[in-house]
Amino acid sequence: MKAVLLSKENSYPEYTDFDIEEHYKSKEKIKITASALNHRDLWIVKGQYAGIKYPIILGSDGMGIYKGRRVIINPGQHWGQDEKVQSKNFRILGLPDHGTMADYVYTDEQFIYDVPSHLSDIEAAALPLGGLTAYRAMFVRGKAQKGEKILISGIGGGVALFALQFAKAAGMEIYVTSSSNEKIEKAKSLGAKGGVNYKSEDWAKQLIDISGGIDLILDSAAGEGFKNYFKIINPGGRIVIYGGTRGKIKDLIPQIIFWKQLSILGSTMGSDKDFREMLKFVEEHKIHPVIDSVYKIEDQKEAFQKMESGEQFGKIVLINPES
Ligand SMILES: NC(=O)c1ccc[n+]([C@@H]2O[C@H](COP(=O)([O-])OP(=O)(O)OC[C@H]3O[C@@H](n4cnc5c(N)ncnc54)[C@H](OP(=O)(O)O)[C@@H]3O)[C@@H](O)[C@H]2O)c1
Repeated sequence: MKAVLLSKENSYPEYTDFDIEEHYKSKEKIKITASALNHRDLWIVKGQYAGIKYPIILGSDGMGIYKGRRVIINPGQHWGQDEKVQSKNFRILGLPDHGTMADYVYTDEQFIYDVPSHLSDIEAAALPLGGLTAYRAMFVRGKAQKGEKILISGIGGGVALFALQFAKAAGMEIYVTSSSNEKIEKAKSLGAKGGVNYKSEDWAKQLIDISGGIDLILDSAAGEGFKNYFKIINPGGRIVIYGGTRGKIKDLIPQIIFWKQLSILGSTMGSDKDFREMLKFVEEHKIHPVIDSVYKIEDQKEAFQKMESGEQFGKIVLINPES
């Protein structure tokens, strides 16, 4: 079959013929119609992800046809019994197991779900990993409540935009940060009340001025800018970290954390229950994933370059031939 195959470190994957290993063939076979990129795929391409092995078919997100049904696959597999944390058997589709950017993906039946009926193939392909991560970070870990003020950082990101749509559906007051004023305007058109550009010197002060303080922060950047969240967050507030794009957090001030009674929480993808609840939420609220761009699968290199440029607003999708 044809697949987006990564064969060596620090080079883009190739769209090429690949004979999948025999042991995959005892699993369920899904004919993929569309797949989508996550930042994870780019970290793997750059060699900046734990447990990289070659060759590997990339892709955690995909929509396909299985036994005549339109299906998506939960990329968070073997979570285990404890809702609080994944088991040591937890694995993510697209490394270590071959992923969705191919003619077919092979997986176990328990990870196959019907597509919410209001979604197109492209929208369905965009949903799984980002939707799951945003849902758990916001509702399960962050305990988001109607009427609260939420800050979602880096709103151009795939996960961040799901969080924005979920927060709107949940009746929250939404603020965002971004490197781009244009993206902030787009976020407002999707329901954000306000936003600030994190490239400006005094962005934290600007955010306090427009919001009056934030109850829940969802962040995937961390790094130097993180310390500003301690100024912005209200007493009793929660900060949920689901990524570390900008690296280590410096200047954590313990006195602010304990005096303001803050909770700093980590979140990774989600359990099977989280995935089911996320699908139900998307169906109930008729949420349509924000799509930045759609490429033919053979043009996958351009899609990876788009993500690398950071220019995207929403999900980058690859579409298979004949779909
Ligand atoms: N733990 C998990 O389960 C999990 C799951 C999914 C993703 N992640 C991690 O979360 C991060 C985002 O993933 P994604 O797939 O949504 O990526 P993405 O679609 O490529 O988006 C990345 C976004 O990060 C934002 N960003 C960059 N520097 C920033 C900064 N200094 N402050 C605030 N935002 C900044 C940018 O927002 P603007 O363009 O608006 O500036 C950019 O759009 C990645 O690090 C990824 O590995 C973790």
